[in-house]
Amino acid sequence: MSDKLGIGVIGVGTIGSVHTDAYAKVEAAEVVALCDIKPDRLEEKGRQHGIETLYKNYHDLLADPSVQAVSVCVPNALHAPISVDAFRAGKDVMLEKPMAMNQQEAMQICQARDAAGKVLQLGMVLRQHANSQVVKDLVSNGHLGEIYHMRVVRVRRRGIPGLGGWFTTKDQSGGGALIDIAVHSFDLALWLSEYWQPTAVSATTYAKFGPLMEDYHYTGMWAGPPDYDGVFDVDDYATGSVRFGRQATMSFEVAWAANTAEESFVELLGDKAGVRIGDSGPVKLTGELDGRLSDTSVQFATQDGFQIEMQRFVEAALGRGEPAATGEQGVVIMKLLDAIYQSSAEAREVTIS
Ligand SMILES: NC(=O)c1ccc[n+]([C@@H]2O[C@H](COP(=O)([O-])OP(=O)(O)OC[C@H]3O[C@@H](n4cnc5c(N)ncnc54)[C@H](O)[C@@H]3O)[C@@H](O)[C@H]2O)c1
Repeated sequence: MSDKLGIGVIGVGTIGSVHTDAYAKVEAAEVVALCDIKPDRLEEKGRQHGIETLYKNYHDLLADPSVQAVSVCVPNALHAPISVDAFRAGKDVMLEKPMAMNQQEAMQICQARDAAGKVLQLGMVLRQHANSQVVKDLVSNGHLGEIYHMRVVRVRRRGIPGLGGWFTTKDQSGGGALIDIAVHSFDLALWLSEYWQPTAVSATTYAKFGPLMEDYHYTGMWAGPPDYDGVFDVDDYATGSVRFGRQATMSFEVAWAANTAEESFVELLGDKAGVRIGDSGPVKLTGELDGRLSDTSVQFATQDGFQIEMQRFVEAALGRGEPAATGEQGVVIMKLLDAIYQSSAEAREVTIS
């Protein structure tokens, strides 16, 4: 047996492959087994990554003693059951976002982790991007002053993943654009704020493009091709406002599809300066210099966020560090998402305890 941490990747679709490639760059780990219920995909990915141990049933992978830790890269509805089973089998778990379908499932995952005494890390990869690290430093060095508002925008013009497939089927995904992509930006914003606790939310979700199915012409989506016999019963747009007690607020707008320009950023407004992080390009600092309005671009070297994410997970599993994103932080995000969906369904502000 190798002296490296043996990793099993469960679900080898889009992100399972990304994880497998990222572990290959982590010296202390080795992917020793893959699992997927689709035999053709499993064999193709086995060949592609040069991995011979392939399982069609994740229970068999969990019973393999050469697997000490797993990456859970399956549709959202399977995050909780597979993570809980993995902890019961004594494995450390690297779990993709969203943590679960709802807060209750997220808490069950944390309980299983605690009972097993193993490591859980969530796949909040935006934190590992170099621009996020730049902003983290700007915040902790006091360059923004007191932060009182955050703006989260993650708007695609036409970007519904796998129309009619699991992404757009509520009982497999838990929701649409909100649970799929807002989760990344919410985590980034909260991480930058040292995880403020949300206390109330007023929000609305819409579904204006997906339900029309055959009128949705943008077929170059990932996780495709479209399945017109499938289901679309989730949101493709969401907007709202979140309170963090009397301390601060956050507005958000998120879309898989909308008739507006594509835009994606997290912006923090402080009383000394504001800062905007986009998906690429320099970090933009907006403030004053000697009493005059001043815009500053902060450059940074790019880095492979997934490689850093897997490195952090492996170090934590080996007892040499802390997980990069914790289950407790994931529970806060799931609580927020639950409240947003509830606020929309009931058309009122919902308080979060
Ligand atoms: N961090 C990111 O940037 C990012 C990007 C994409 C997806 N994700 C997340 O990763 C997860 C997977 O998304 P994806 O885009 O890779 O989806 P995908 O559909 O491409 O892949 C999911 C894979 O899981 C397999 N699967 C389903 N049930 C299984 C089971 N019981 N056992 C083993 N395998 C099973 C499917 O056959 C499929 O190959 C989702 O939760 C998604 O939100 C994260």
